[in-house]
Amino acid sequence: MKAVILVGGLGTRLRPLTLNTPKAMMPVLNKPFLEYVIRRLARHKVTDIVLAISHLAQPIEDHFGNGNRFGVRLEYTAEETALGTAGAVKNAEEYLEGEACLVLNGDIFTDLDLTAMMDFHRRSRALATIALTPVEDPTIYGLVETDDYGRITRFLEKPRWEDVTTNMINAGTYMLESQVLSYIPPQTNFSFERQVFPYLLERSEPIYAFPSLCYWMDIGTPEKYRRLNFDLLEGRSNQYQPDTTTNISIGEYSECHPTAIVTAPVVIGDSCSIGKNTRLTGPLVIGNGSNITNSSVVENSIIWQNVSVEEDTNVRQSIIANGCIIGAGSLITDSIVPDNVTVATGYRMINCSDIQPGASIG
Ligand code: GTP
Repeated sequence: MKAVILVGGLGTRLRPLTLNTPKAMMPVLNKPFLEYVIRRLARHKVTDIVLAISHLAQPIEDHFGNGNRFGVRLEYTAEETALGTAGAVKNAEEYLEGEACLVLNGDIFTDLDLTAMMDFHRRSRALATIALTPVEDPTIYGLVETDDYGRITRFLEKPRWEDVTTNMINAGTYMLESQVLSYIPPQTNFSFERQVFPYLLERSEPIYAFPSLCYWMDIGTPEKYRRLNFDLLEGRSNQYQPDTTTNISIGEYSECHPTAIVTAPVVIGDSCSIGKNTRLTGPLVIGNGSNITNSSVVENSIIWQNVSVEEDTNVRQSIIANGCIIGAGSLITDSIVPDNVTVATGYRMINCSDIQPGASIG
């Protein structure tokens, strides 16, 4: 079984974080997001994988290479202009060699049992199988209705509450027979959700649902990206086992001053320095090579790599990307700070998410 992972989206809702870093490379507990997706496929013995990229390809290729390090074989397809979810899979057709394939949205973290889904797909003789997940507010999603045998009967886009008939939505994992690709025009922007699946349904082709209650989170927005990190720290997925005694993890070559007060759950990467009288309160992730200097307070945040939080600074409910310098005595709260930003001494930043990478603030 081969798989195509869609990693070519612009990630506009995650800007400015995704201006330099593709969504697939955003760190989750200090590892690129896509690593979890690839390792999960490998655990389900899906080791031939195509990465469908169109935007910011280089950091992905540099990290994953031919896939050897991760126990898989990777191929890459490129798109001159974004081809949409279905157009991107059509573009990978030559690698699929006429076989059925799995398609995964590359921004979804899930514990979905792929082996069970592949078995179900084969047994039901479906042309396409779509994984489903329940959500609390179905009115902002595309709902999927099924009959008693799991066959999909209707797609319902963003219904009003009074029209809601199910809370199950498309979970962004598909199993497709090769014939499905014949419904997708080559080199054309085309969508599974809006075009291919509704068209197959219109033709009464067998499309089945594979519902699951397992952990599921898409990282499309900063809030959900933060939520995923925190959910993992709190043990909500089976893909990360927090240390059950302390739930504090400190990486290699990192130093934490004995006067620092660290309240779980916290992950500190490699080669970090946590200074005197600092207070770190979880859920919190600190990336490799970052320094939290004396008397600073950092809580409920995600700090990427090589960030310097200078002394007496407060960082709360924020995401600070690679290489930022947060000046002494400043306050950063409910904000998103993209790569290589310098924040001046004593600056107060509250609820800010429109800073450009590399900017000097204050
Ligand atoms: P937003 O711009 O914030 O909506 O994010 P996005 O561009 O990632 O779009 P969306 O969340 O709808 O995409 C779902 C998944 O499909 C993500 O993993 C995207 O990387 C991927 N994707 C979306 N459009 C394309 C495309 O045109 N080409 C490829 N290769 N992947 C795509």
